[in-house]
Amino acid sequence: MVMNSAITAQTLKQMKAQGERFSCLTAYDASFAQRIAEAGVEVQLVGDSLGMVIQGEESTLPVSVDDMIYHCRSVRRASGHSLVMVDMPFMSCTNPAQALENAGRLMKEGGAHMVKLEGGQSMLEAVRLLSIHGVPVCSHLGLLPQSVHKLGGYKVQGRDHEAADAILADAKALEAVGADVLLLECVPATLAKRVTAAVAIPVIGIGAGVDCDAQVLVVYDMLGITPGKRPKFSKNFLLDANDIPEALHNYAQAVKSATFPTEQQSF
Ligand code: KIV
Repeated sequence: MVMNSAITAQTLKQMKAQGERFSCLTAYDASFAQRIAEAGVEVQLVGDSLGMVIQGEESTLPVSVDDMIYHCRSVRRASGHSLVMVDMPFMSCTNPAQALENAGRLMKEGGAHMVKLEGGQSMLEAVRLLSIHGVPVCSHLGLLPQSVHKLGGYKVQGRDHEAADAILADAKALEAVGADVLLLECVPATLAKRVTAAVAIPVIGIGAGVDCDAQVLVVYDMLGITPGKRPKFSKNFLLDANDIPEALHNYAQAVKSATFPTEQQSF
């Protein structure tokens, strides 16, 4: 698809309907945003992973709404035609009214095109209210990094039948209340395939196999910048490229042609 105009939630839904995959990368500043847009990446996620990769925190929990607004504004200045999605950080949507107020700030002050929030059943009323008020929403299911202490670590979710069925039910319920996009993190590829087939809205995967409609990675992981062990679901695209723009381009093409992820990066 040749993109002459800005990508919206509707564009992503049309792409799914036409069987066309799209790519997503995290972005936290204007320089990366410009390069990511030039590489043809459709969605830029201002992820609360910035708490770890930018701020050096142990988890995403300390990130504030003001932090997200600052980074989102930086990204928006150079994001070109990409849709800019921003994370609602930990404790910014503990009830629907608070979710609406903070989503409003992220859109008005940060310039976000879409907000992403973690959770299924507990977020249904918030997602419904956001949708009624014209806020495009991505609902994040599977491994929820903001619940890392409750989950006991960054572990694959939905491995047994009961947990898998609960994620599938959450996905359908979120679509019914108005979610525009789903993001599935660290779930078995077979479950991600079921979820992707069961909903009409696009599903972005990370550690969720190749059968999702789209893929996302943390840009610092896929360029080999993040210190420590690279997560199983990620891949260093800089190793086979001459420079960063080529690595970003190769990632976008690999997602669109379904050559990334492989079984090696799946559960
Ligand atoms: O914050 C983030 O970067 C994310 C991705 C890991 C999906 O939510």
